[in-house]
Amino acid sequence: MPAGQLVCKEQDLQVNAALRVLVHGYPVVVVRDSDGEVHALGDTCSHADISLAEGDVEDCAIECWGHGSQFDLRTGEPLSPPAFEPVPVFALAIDDSNVFVDVTTVINGAKAPDEALLKKAAAKSAKEN
Ligand code: FES
Repeated sequence: MPAGQLVCKEQDLQVNAALRVLVHGYPVVVVRDSDGEVHALGDTCSHADISLAEGDVEDCAIECWGHGSQFDLRTGEPLSPPAFEPVPVFALAIDDSNVFVDVTTVINGAKAPDEALLKKAAAKSAKEN
């Protein structure tokens, strides 16, 4: 079984659409781009506290509705201002149509969520359930 947490089935992911999931309470956006590739990024815009999953997906980018920054789905880099820092891109594996995301493995060099943040997110998630 791949590392990480099972977040959805592959067929849950429409082309050019985003799905917000929680991985141990930490918000992640899982996106299938226009080429059919699947990506997992931190769901919170690096400019302000807005969910990227609520934005539009086009080609290989997702747009934040807050102020219009677009983020490259492969690199997490902002393609347009006002955001200037990347969002983390996480390791993702698909096994027998099951999609797994590992938030402890950041593949783009962006700042990973630290352990304290992951613990806080998990505690908040447990409280809400
Ligand atoms: S909150 Fe995303 S660009 Fe400003």
